[in-house]
Amino acid sequence: MTKMSDLQKKDLEYIFHPCSQMKDYEDLPPIVITEGKGLYLKDEFGNTYMDCVSSWWVNLFGHSNDRINKVLYDQAKSLEHVIFANFTHKPAIELGELLTEVVPKGLTKLFFTDNGASSIEVSLKLSFQYYQQAGFTKKKKFISLANGYHGETIGALAVGDVDIFTETYRPLIKESIKVQGPNCFNCPYKLNFENCDAECFIHMEKALETHHEEVAAVVVEPLVQGVAGMRIYSPKYLIKLRELTKKLNVHFIADEIAVGFGRTGKMFACEHAGISPDIMCIGKGLTSGYFPMSIVLMTEDIYKAFYADYFEGKSFLHSHSYSGNPLGCRLAVETLKIFKEENILQTIEKKGNYLRNKAIQLFKDHPNIGEYRQIGLIGAFEFVKNKETKELFPATDRVGYEIYKIALKKGALLRPLGNVIYFMPPYVITEEEIDKMLEICKESVEEYLDQRNK
Ligand SMILES: Cc1ncc(COP(=O)(O)O)c(C=O)c1O
Repeated sequence: MTKMSDLQKKDLEYIFHPCSQMKDYEDLPPIVITEGKGLYLKDEFGNTYMDCVSSWWVNLFGHSNDRINKVLYDQAKSLEHVIFANFTHKPAIELGELLTEVVPKGLTKLFFTDNGASSIEVSLKLSFQYYQQAGFTKKKKFISLANGYHGETIGALAVGDVDIFTETYRPLIKESIKVQGPNCFNCPYKLNFENCDAECFIHMEKALETHHEEVAAVVVEPLVQGVAGMRIYSPKYLIKLRELTKKLNVHFIADEIAVGFGRTGKMFACEHAGISPDIMCIGKGLTSGYFPMSIVLMTEDIYKAFYADYFEGKSFLHSHSYSGNPLGCRLAVETLKIFKEENILQTIEKKGNYLRNKAIQLFKDHPNIGEYRQIGLIGAFEFVKNKETKELFPATDRVGYEIYKIALKKGALLRPLGNVIYFMPPYVITEEEIDKMLEICKESVEEYLDQRNK
């Protein structure tokens, strides 16, 4: 058992942390963060950590950002919350106006939820109810991709495919039809981004052609399967998916929760493919990482299917106490204003290029780096046992977790995804900080390998 501070002991007395085995905290106690500023988090002992993962991919413009702090304070002084049924407020209306200007064309209506998983629930319910009300009563299923992740509520798990999160709850879950998706690290067609035409879409095509009459929607993470290990795939896949879902009368749900708000270099990942989904879920960066809020955007056609006299029973009944919270809406408005006024997409492009060049240079020819991949400011290393065969380290070695622990001691929060170590820093990161982040990553990898080979 590692020595703990009073605060750490008290934390463990009361708190059950997410995404953790609590027994692991005996060895690595919870780090008590007392302050955040820009890229950095500071703990109770004065140690600082570069937040290389934007605190679970939410933070965009740095911790405790002065501009955002001010609007949050001002909004709290005038209105902190109001019931959102029959009532509304200026921040929600302004957000509607600003957001519909920047999302893919045709998405005109906003439905608020509190978190990403709930927005997935809403998108599934909307699609299902839409088709039931339109007379397509056989449409009771969903299609999603192998290795996909859409959150951890029961409905979101049903369309996800990451065993560690799903396995225990299988008896409770009505699973979606899982389709083998793109695997560009180990492409079965031996193609790459330059010469591929999304040949792997064949599996989706077969599934849709076989099942379309019973399927309401296809749900995908556009362009990057995040939790699967930042697996980046071709926009051509999305173009084909859009065409076929349209042709077969199936909704296309784009889960932009992780990739929205500039992470891939464009405001939304769907833009790389020039497509517009029927339903789009956004969250995480929506409030610059300040407030738990998500939004489901939909087309006018979907919205209208619920618009009827009360006794027709077509209302969409899904409510959260904090739906459309004014603080969250005001923060989201400011997020969009910052993107516009501070040319954030250009910054991402510049810093993304810098990161790519440096990362490739640093890890070139490393025997245990199977691949470095990047889009926008999302970069990831696939850590392999054997570069030739692409054999991975066994999951039981917890390689990523071991490297994460070493990097923490060196001052970087580099939370892994299995064998994948990734970077998804806030956009305020500087070139010098990118160098430092990569340096810590490399040192941590080397230290881990040295220990392992001893
Ligand atoms: C693609 C995707 N969808 C949904 C979610 C769930 O969001 P939340 O954690 O806010 O419930 C996540 C979270 O990581 C995600 O990456």
